[in-house]
Amino acid sequence: MAKIALTGIKPTGNPHIGNLLGAIKPALKIAEKYHALYFIADYHALTSVKDKQALHQQIYGVAATWIAAGLDPEKVVFYRQSDIPEVFELSWILSCFTPKGLLNRAHSYKAAVDNNLQNQNDPDMGVNMGHYNYPILMAADILMFNSNVVPVGQDQRQHLEMTRDIAHWFNQNYKKILVIPEALIQDNVKTIPGIDGRKMSKSYHNEIPLYVPSKQLKKKVMQIVTDSKEVHEPKDPENCNLFSIYKLFAEEKEIQTTHQQYLDGGLGYGQLKQALFELIDTFVNEGRERYDYYMNHTELLDQILLEGASKARKIATPLLKTIRQTIGIEK
Ligand code: ADP
Ligand code: TRP
Repeated sequence: MAKIALTGIKPTGNPHIGNLLGAIKPALKIAEKYHALYFIADYHALTSVKDKQALHQQIYGVAATWIAAGLDPEKVVFYRQSDIPEVFELSWILSCFTPKGLLNRAHSYKAAVDNNLQNQNDPDMGVNMGHYNYPILMAADILMFNSNVVPVGQDQRQHLEMTRDIAHWFNQNYKKILVIPEALIQDNVKTIPGIDGRKMSKSYHNEIPLYVPSKQLKKKVMQIVTDSKEVHEPKDPENCNLFSIYKLFAEEKEIQTTHQQYLDGGLGYGQLKQALFELIDTFVNEGRERYDYYMNHTELLDQILLEGASKARKIATPLLKTIRQTIGIEK
């Protein structure tokens, strides 16, 4: 049987070009080789998103984006975390095997504490227990499905280590029933720069949004920051954010020509932005149509996700039963 690859997608904002190239496309590639389970981590998002409408929209937005980008729900088990009650029961069980000190050391929690201390506030100000317990729920997400590999970004490495530790402690106390997962961190995936040259990220507000109308896309591309060299002046292709983004979308030949034009002078940034806009617009066009279709038919998304949940529960239900029997809750 194919090994299981599982990953969670937190619906905390509108997906951008960096998410597509850095996470979605690579995950879809992985799904060709594994039995893939991909889910929307909606209860993880609740730790930070407290606006009902926003959360609701973002869940659909993420689901529609992944399907628009090529996820085939017939091939990938695609579901919502909140539709799998077993995960939340396992989360409690695992919390009884998790030393509090482990969570005190979680990067995200520690960053919040450090920030509070720096501002001379109570160390736990603004930290809710969902934020604190986040790594345990994530361990439950992973361990509930016998996951062998978990494709994630570098920032999730610690969470995977914690998951492995928790699983070991459980297995040591009883018997080896939890599969120990491996993080699948792809080092060859490039970090996509945003319009200001820093890593494209919602937290920097520098993203090029993915499936938005052409007009909105154009506006963002035109905002890419460059130096103020005039059209006739030679420019530096090695240190130009616009050129870096252009290289992601243009053909090799176009890249070479543009590179030369940079060195020679004569190509204006405005002109290149227009060309880049057209390239991205064409690149996303087909996906955008699918995205719009699903966002206008969210009942189809509900159906897909519910079918996915029912497939996923075929793994979770028997495993949770075994776990309950193993710990002595059930006969
Ligand atoms: P953001 O930083 O915008 O909040 P997320 O943390 O939601 O992005 O990222 C979701 C996934 O997309 C992660 O796997 C992350 O590695 C990937 N990703 C996000 N931004 C980029 C980027 N600029 N380049 C490459 N991958 C990215
Ligand atoms: N914490 C992950 C993130 O912020 C999302 C996530 C939740 C996840 N549960 C998971 C990822 C399980 C992989 C496996 O991106």
